Amino acid sequence: MKEIKIETTLYIYKEIKALPKDVIALMQNAIEARKNAYAPYSNFNVGAALLLDNGEIITGNNQENASYPSGLCAERTAIYYAGSQYPKAKIIRMAISAGSKNNKTTKPIPPCGACRQAIAEYEVKQDTPIEIYFMGETGKIAKSNSLANLLPLVFDKSVL
Ligand code: THU
Repeated sequence: MKEIKIETTLYIYKEIKALPKDVIALMQNAIEARKNAYAPYSNFNVGAALLLDNGEIITGNNQENASYPSGLCAERTAIYYAGSQYPKAKIIRMAISAGSKNNKTTKPIPPCGACRQAIAEYEVKQDTPIEIYFMGETGKIAKSNSLANLLPLVFDKSVL
């Protein structure tokens, strides 16, 4: 028997102001997008913003449904829109901000597993890492240099 250890590196920024300038702007797009989330069931609003290599910024937010599983997370709303509108563009980075109406989220909220899988598809497709920055409503921001870092042992097209 052999043991395998998997390590992940995250970078933590104290506050939005500490981020690189262009990332501040992208996170502000995510925060703005969060305000339009449609989340009457969970009261948990998420906004995501993507920067593409053609300069476009694509935003999305979570869209819930009375039939709960029919809803979609912010990250997938944004990335599927990017994929549908700009199929040739590479995604440079994604910024995510999540906030609950019930209590203030002050720590970084990572993308859910299903969204990680969806983002992984595009990272593999473009063969270039996608930087992911995620935060709550306020407070610290976590950065991962790639989606692969957030989803070790990825299931992708190489196994099909
Ligand atoms: N949600 C997102 O939009 N992104 C995530 O990564 C986690 C969860 C949404 C889905 C649902 O509308 C609400 O947050 C509560 O789970």
